[in-house]
Amino acid sequence: MVSEKSNVLNPLLVLILVPAVFCTVQPPTFNPEMLTPMRTIGDCQACRVFIESFKEGLERTSRGKYEGGDAAWEEEKLKKSYKRSEIRLVDIQEGLCKTSKFSFQCHSMAEKAEEFIEEWWAQDPDESTDLYAYICIDNLKVCCPEHHYGKECTPCPGDHSKPCNGNGKCRGDGTRKGNGTCSCDAGYEGQFCDKCAVEYYLSYKDENKMLCSPCHVSCLGGCRQGTQKDCVACKTGFSFDTDEGCLDINECDDVDRCTRDQFCLNSIGSFKCADCDRACSGCYGDGPDSCRKCAKGYSKKGEFCIEDREDEDQSEKLTTTRYLTYIGLIIATGILLPKSTPLGSIVGAMVLIYIVGAEYYCMINGHTGLVNLKDFNLIQIFHT
Ligand SMILES: *[C@@H]1O[C@H](CO)[C@@H](O)[C@H](O)[C@H]1NC(C)=O
Repeated sequence: MVSEKSNVLNPLLVLILVPAVFCTVQPPTFNPEMLTPMRTIGDCQACRVFIESFKEGLERTSRGKYEGGDAAWEEEKLKKSYKRSEIRLVDIQEGLCKTSKFSFQCHSMAEKAEEFIEEWWAQDPDESTDLYAYICIDNLKVCCPEHHYGKECTPCPGDHSKPCNGNGKCRGDGTRKGNGTCSCDAGYEGQFCDKCAVEYYLSYKDENKMLCSPCHVSCLGGCRQGTQKDCVACKTGFSFDTDEGCLDINECDDVDRCTRDQFCLNSIGSFKCADCDRACSGCYGDGPDSCRKCAKGYSKKGEFCIEDREDEDQSEKLTTTRYLTYIGLIIATGILLPKSTPLGSIVGAMVLIYIVGAEYYCMINGHTGLVNLKDFNLIQIFHT
């Protein structure tokens, strides 16, 4: 009985579910993160990550493992022995690199550092020693002290406390890599980043500091100060004025700048042509309220160009879809009825109400409807 019923309901269910599924299924979304290559870090940075992780481990195990001994003195003694124990070292190493973004590089550094870490641990380590310098600089030799670079940890050129005049970085600073030349910040150039780059001007200077600031956007090839009056020359899109300096040219003053179905948008130093609204035939701005004339099939209502009537094609397609739905529903009822008359009658009545309702809705909204169907009694047909 149950299986028969569900057999009967299947076509109906399919009919209801299919459109719902088709409407909600979305195209597979594209995850841009999957394509970004995994960030890699250098050996020195990996060592730094490893040391940070090791220090976290020291912190995590600093309160000891044997809390809650029988007596206070006993607890104290156990804590002391744990502090320097192999067990604690193993506890630290177990949690190593787990939370790091670069856990792979961190683990591989941890492996290389293992013998030095054990040596350090065996020497009854004072936890305040600089573990970073001991492991990464002195033993693994992947890093250098600050402001030193390259295989031999050569000091960066220039003022050692402030390489590249504080306006750049010495290549390889703090690592065993690089050649020590300056990589200047934006706006600076020169071997020691002591000159202003093109399109920048010197805005401040004393014994310790120099500051370069960008020229005005309208300047070409440099400037004396930061305003449009200080330019050496003007960029394209600007014209030179003796009093005002470089001024933006309004390209849109030229009425023929864009095509007939576009409008012109001026911007500083440039312009853009954008398409008119589809309601327009020629326009002076965006939207159906900025038309010169209305496009074919649209007419002026106040400020706006409004569509004259519904697109016939669209309406016809909708009507066909609607009729197909009705036929589907009626066929489903037809399948159901011979198998279960009471259920079939109820469904038939519901289908009838649905169709009449839908047609009535279409009619009052000015669509073409099946007006005759209103006088049609489906239930009567089913009962004969
Ligand atoms: C130093 O390295 C940078 C970038 O790695 C390179 O552009 C530059 O030519 C090198 N300079 C010297 C002197 O080797």
